[in-house]
Order: sequence, then C-alpha cells, then structure tokens
Amino acid sequence: MESLRSLTSFGVTKTETMSKLRIAIQKSGRLYDDSISLLKECGIELRNVKDRLKTESDNFPLEVFFLRDDDIPQYVEDGVADIGIVGQNVLYEKCKETEIIERLDFGKCRLALAINKNEEYVANYLQGKKIATSYPILLQKYLDENKITAEIHEISGSVEIAPGIGLADVICDLVSSGSTLFMNGLKEVETVLESQAVLVRNKDLNEEQLKWVDKLLFRIRSVKKAKRNKYILLNAPNNQLPRIFELLPGMRSPTVLPLAEEGWSSVHSVLSEDEFWEKIEQLKAAGAQGILVVPIEKMII
Ligand code: PRP
Ligand code: ZN
Repeated sequence: MESLRSLTSFGVTKTETMSKLRIAIQKSGRLYDDSISLLKECGIELRNVKDRLKTESDNFPLEVFFLRDDDIPQYVEDGVADIGIVGQNVLYEKCKETEIIERLDFGKCRLALAINKNEEYVANYLQGKKIATSYPILLQKYLDENKITAEIHEISGSVEIAPGIGLADVICDLVSSGSTLFMNGLKEVETVLESQAVLVRNKDLNEEQLKWVDKLLFRIRSVKKAKRNKYILLNAPNNQLPRIFELLPGMRSPTVLPLAEEGWSSVHSVLSEDEFWEKIEQLKAAGAQGILVVPIEKMII
C-alpha cells in the first residue's frame, strides 16, 4: 500500500488524462534488469533509474513506475499504470482483469512442486500432504484439476526452507535454475505453471494511449525478432550456391556478391537462432567457407 500512496501523491490517478504512457515494472528482483534492458533496446532512454519510485523518458512519452511485482496486476487493472511488465506466475495468481499483449521471452521459470530429495515420489504422493507456497490460488487450481486433497500453507517468502523446519512436506515455488531447490535438499516433482515475463495492458485505454502502446509494441517485436536471428556472411563456390540458398532462404532471398576470385561468391542472409548450429554444419558440408555470424540489433519486417 505504501507505494500506492506515494504514487497517488504524485498526482497520478486514473481520472487525470495524461499524455504520457505509464508503465509499471518490477522495482527489484528477477525481472528488473531485463525489463530495463528491453526498454533501452527499444531506444527508450530513461533518466536515472537507480532507487527511484518513478522516472520518465525524454525521447518517448513514457513514465516508468517501479513497483513490487505482486502489486503490478492491480495497478494495471485500476489504471494507475496503463501497461506493465510482470511474470505470468504473479498475473495468474492475482487473477486481475488485464490483457496480455505480448510475451517477452525473458524471466522464464516454472511454478513447481518439490519434495525432500530422499523421498520417493510415488503415485498419490501428494494426497493429504501439507504444501507451503506463496501461490495458493494457482496451487489450489492445480490440486482441484488433479483431484488431490492437500493442505495449503500460505507463506510469503523463503518457501524452500519449509520442509527443513517441519512446516510442510511439499513446497510449491518458482524454479528457474533449480539451484535454490538443490541447496535446500529438495527435488522437483511436478510443474504447476510455465511462466515468463509478459506485457499487460489496462482494458480501457483511450485511442491516444493505444497508439503509443502500438508504437512500443512495434519496437518490442523488432527487438525480439532481432534477438532470435543472426546475420550470416559466408563464401562459397558458385556451383554450390543452389544448395546454400536452400539452406539460407533469408528474409526474402539471400544477397549474393561476386568475390574477386573467379568462381566464388559471398552470400549474406539471416538465420534463426533455433536452427543455427544445425544449419552451420550443413553449410560447411555444402562447401561454405569463412562463415561470419553477427548479432542483429533490430529487425523490421
Ligand atoms: C524465486 C523462488 C526461489 C528462487 C528460485 O524467488 O522463490 O527462491 O527464485 O530460483 P532458482 O531456481 O534459480 O534458484 P525470487 O527470486 O523470485 O524472489 P521472491 O521469492 O522474493 O519473489
Ligand atoms: Zn515476488
């Protein structure tokens, strides 16, 4: 509540029509760095972001509020912020009326059930167990769907220590690298929800606000696409070009430039990150040499 009071004291309320788009992002924690980087990669410069409650941009009409992730769905639903970057885990737990407009490809983690690593996970293991979690809503939904009756102990943090101190038999918590579970002698047994960061928006934005959301979205999509692709340059003997074109269709078709050496060409194209290593091997097998791979900053299609 503290941050809401502070925000309204800035005069930021729904009734005022502001020309700047207001985005809520996590003030610290797993999504903070990537959220700031994403805005930067979208060409949005922010004034001094360190330890602020809010800041703004000089080159895009955007105000940024730094909030606790758990509060972001509520602020966006209430229209205190127009849009927000939040984990699906938090969004679904809070069940707020907001609309997901883009998955952001970062903050990937899963809400999972874990038990003591020495326990055997047998059928119906979860029946009648005590489960500690900060996600009671998502957990209850999972239990209902799987016809499991168990006791949920809601705790707000350090869920991973619950089995060790005898508070619960099982935990339901976020797992990203898995090191927290490992350090606490726990093992993952079920996935409750796959999660990543998403961009959400308030349901009643006006035309002006929607226009700026679209502009931001266009930039975000260009950045995302660029990250998933690489620019590739290679040399190949001309008689191998048909095979190389098959492997590298590119955005429209590859660019081909003659080399000074007779019978050779330089081929430029775009290659998706997912098929990268496989394609490189096939290109080498097809006679490609001097392969260079360069990151792409933005990709506008
Ligand atoms: C989550 C979760 C674990 C940790 C798991 O906490 O509660 O403690 O991350 O990550 P790992 O698998 O990479 O070890 P988070 O950092 O989101 O902080 P919070 O619990 O305070 O929200
Ligand atoms: Zn949190």
